[in-house]
This record gives sequence, C-alpha cells and structure tokens, in this order.
Amino acid sequence: MTDRYAVIGNPIGHTRSPFIHGLFAQSTDQDIEYTAIEGPTGSPQAFADALLAFRDSGGKGMNVTAPFKMQAFDLATDRLDRARIAGATNALKFEGDRIAADNFDGVGLLRDIQRNLGVALEGKRVLLLGAGGAVRGALLPFLAARPAELVLANRDAAKARALVNAFAIDGPVVDREYGELANEWFDVVVNATSASLRGELPPLPVGVFSQAELAYELAYGKGLTPFLRLARNAGVGHLADGVGMLVEQAAEAFAWWRGVRPDTRPVIARLTVPLA
Ligand code: ATR
Repeated sequence: MTDRYAVIGNPIGHTRSPFIHGLFAQSTDQDIEYTAIEGPTGSPQAFADALLAFRDSGGKGMNVTAPFKMQAFDLATDRLDRARIAGATNALKFEGDRIAADNFDGVGLLRDIQRNLGVALEGKRVLLLGAGGAVRGALLPFLAARPAELVLANRDAAKARALVNAFAIDGPVVDREYGELANEWFDVVVNATSASLRGELPPLPVGVFSQAELAYELAYGKGLTPFLRLARNAGVGHLADGVGMLVEQAAEAFAWWRGVRPDTRPVIARLTVPLA
C-alpha cells in the first residue's frame, strides 16, 4: 500500500520537497505519495487540526517549514535531541498516536558544506550570520565539526549572546557585533539570516571575506543574493546557495521514515541553478 507523506507550510506554492522526495522514492523503489499542504496560519488550533487530519487520514510523516516549525514541535509527543536543542522541528513521524519530531536542517547544512562542497570545518575560522531558528539548529553540528573558532554575529546582539551562553559548553563559540568584524577574517562565512529573502544585506564589513574559501547562503534559488554578490566581488572562489542543504535534510528525513538513504547527488544536480 502507498504510504503518504506531506510538507506543510505557508506559503507552500514554491516548495521543491514533493519533487525531491518523488526522485528519492523512484531511485530507492519506495512506494510513497508526497504532497504539499498549505497550513492555516489563523490560530495554533487550526494548524494542529490540519496536522492531525493528515495523520488521521493515514499520513506516515511530514516535513514542516515556515512558519510552523515551532508549533509542530509543541505538538510532538517525542522530541529527539536535535529538535529539542533547536526548539523547532522540520520532520515528524507518526506512529499510532505518537508524534516524533526531529530536526535535520543543521546536519543537512553540515553535510552539504563538508561532503558535497568538500570544505572541512576542522581547524577553520567560521562566521555564522543570524541568531534565529536556522542558526540554533546549526550550532551543535558546526561545533561537532571542530572549527578553530565559530563566531556568531546578529543585528540584535543580545540574541547572539544568548546563543553563545547556551552553547559555549559545546565548543569555541563567541559573539561579535557586525561593526566589530571589520578587522577579522574567516575561512567560511555562512549567511543564516533571512535578509536575502527580502533582497537585503546584513551590515557585514567586506574584509571578512579577505581569506574566505567559501561563502554559503542558506536561501536557495535566488541567484546571486546581495550577500553572495558581496562575497564574489571580494574574490571568494567558492559561492554556494542552500539547494544542497535542502536536498540533504530531505534525504535525512527520507532515511528516518523509510530506512534507506537515497543518493543526493543526482537530485542536487537537477535542482541547481547557476548563481550568476
Ligand atoms: P530563521 O528560522 O530562518 O532563522 P528567524 O528565526 O526569523 O528565521 O531569524 C531570522 C534572522 O535573520 C534573525 O537573526 C534576524 O536578525 P534579528 O534577530 O536581529 O532580527 C536576521 N535578519 C533578518 N533580516 C536581516 C537583515 N536585513 N540584516 C541582518 N539580519 C537580518
């Protein structure tokens, strides 16, 4: 019998998840149906109703995207470590009346940087921009990759400070204000703010790129964002958007649900749009 999965978000029209999971299912010979659901934003109860209605109609699992990652986390009965640490979930598994929640965004990002792009973080100076859900999910996997130093910068400096206080026990993470970065350099710079979604640029001194080997933009499919343009103009050799992260987090969820990990490379190749 065909097992049903879905991604829920709002807006959801541009999601690539059904396409990605469709290719995964084909390549691994799994009999699944994967659809997109526009979740209601009116009230938490309306969202809960939509989620439970999908489960009760035989759904086996769901991906969760903005703006529901925290609401879905609240509805889970079993919160796996990565979801608990991020305070948010992007993947649910339904088992009877249990709802298990995990979060594969951080591991997906790490896997894309290290395995697909071939940039090991061990011993490197890494700059992570932002202090929202995306950064929260990325902090532990980044620290586990043993960078020499991980620097967080956020417009609202207090948010970055709070994250540093929470994660300092896990590795060398410090916070800086954007203005304090003028004389600093990094090997890898990751834009995990939502600035690019509105065509904006964090107030980043261009000198941070002077020795960078990789500039990584979490947003995907937006071509050269202001962040990537700044990096390119500063001479950074390797620019990447978040398409690889998107496919890698999907593969982690697929493996969790189906017990088989699909090959991500051909799927990334299908979705990659030239940046310039
Ligand atoms: P996500 O779940 O994608 O991380 P979020 O939790 O809303 O989204 O966080 C968005 C992040 O992008 C925040 O760190 C935000 O900075 P503030 O905490 O100072 O608001 C950051 N951000 C959004 N627009 C930005 C901009 N134009 N310049 C710099 N940072 C920006």
